[in-house]
Amino acid sequence: MTAHERAGVALVTGSSSGIGQAVAECLAMAGWQVFGASRRGAASAGAKPAAWTPIPLDVTSESSVAAAVATVLEADQRIDLLVHCAGISVAGSIEDVSIPEAERQLATNYLGTIRVIQAVLPAMRRAGKGRIIVVGSIGGLIGLPFIGHYSASKFALDGMVQALRIEIAPFGIEATVLHPGDIQTDISTNQIEGERTGTGSVYHRRFKATVGAYDKAVREARKPDVIAKAVLKLLARRTLPVRAVAGTPSERAGVVLKALLPSRVFETIIRKTYGL
Ligand SMILES: NC(=O)c1ccc[n+]([C@@H]2O[C@H](COP(=O)([O-])OP(=O)(O)OC[C@H]3O[C@@H](n4cnc5c(N)ncnc54)[C@H](OP(=O)(O)O)[C@@H]3O)[C@@H](O)[C@H]2O)c1
Repeated sequence: MTAHERAGVALVTGSSSGIGQAVAECLAMAGWQVFGASRRGAASAGAKPAAWTPIPLDVTSESSVAAAVATVLEADQRIDLLVHCAGISVAGSIEDVSIPEAERQLATNYLGTIRVIQAVLPAMRRAGKGRIIVVGSIGGLIGLPFIGHYSASKFALDGMVQALRIEIAPFGIEATVLHPGDIQTDISTNQIEGERTGTGSVYHRRFKATVGAYDKAVREARKPDVIAKAVLKLLARRTLPVRAVAGTPSERAGVVLKALLPSRVFETIIRKTYGL
């Protein structure tokens, strides 16, 4: 029996960069047959041949998602695992981010996730098994100022996965949401700042200081392979938990404190942390 037969076929979205790329590489090393999907597709593979197959995917397009899933199924007739990492971050105060900008955030992070899940579920149901790991964010457990729509998209994923798990359990399919803390990737370089966040905004100074602090934290954060290892750890479990948090001790402490402390006290901690 080959390693591929042992581990199965995985679709990893967001594989052109950061967390998705690390997950695709790590799963391939662990013996999975990996299809890594992103808008950059094969262009993301670079000069060295990837241990996984890059395919084009835009999660905001119904036809692109259908084509990507069809490519995997044509090659291997099955999808045993979806690790959904594709995502973007839109920054700005709630007042300054326009509705089209907020829609773009949710179209990629929330509806894009649903679109991919809807596309893989029929094959998983036919097989009577499958695992779905959605990459959320600690920002989906704690509302983060000036990236509120990003936080909202990740809170939405956590709530959606809670519902999804119960719906798909009878088909032998499991789902979980993995919430990372800060990870050193291109996420803040790729961040989209709302058009109204400029110097004319009443929020401008606090906005810039806060996203600057987020950017610094990302630049100094742990490398994406820690999330790839967290994915492997989840896959080693007999059953997937409702959610998992992959953070530093202080990030994990933040999540625990939020659950334990009165909301106002926790809010004060967040304000003090970012000088707001
Ligand atoms: N870095 C962190 O600190 C951190 C913390 C918590 C959670 N996360 C989450 O981790 C996930 C990965 O982010 P990252 O940090 O690795 O950022 P990244 O380096 O910017 O990677 C984002 C990935 O998403 C893909 N993507 C974006 N829009 C897409 C679309 N419409 N269709 C298909 N793919 C798309 C990008 O590929 P293309 O541009 O080629 O499409 C890229 O591969 C995101 O969901 C993010 O919210 C990150």
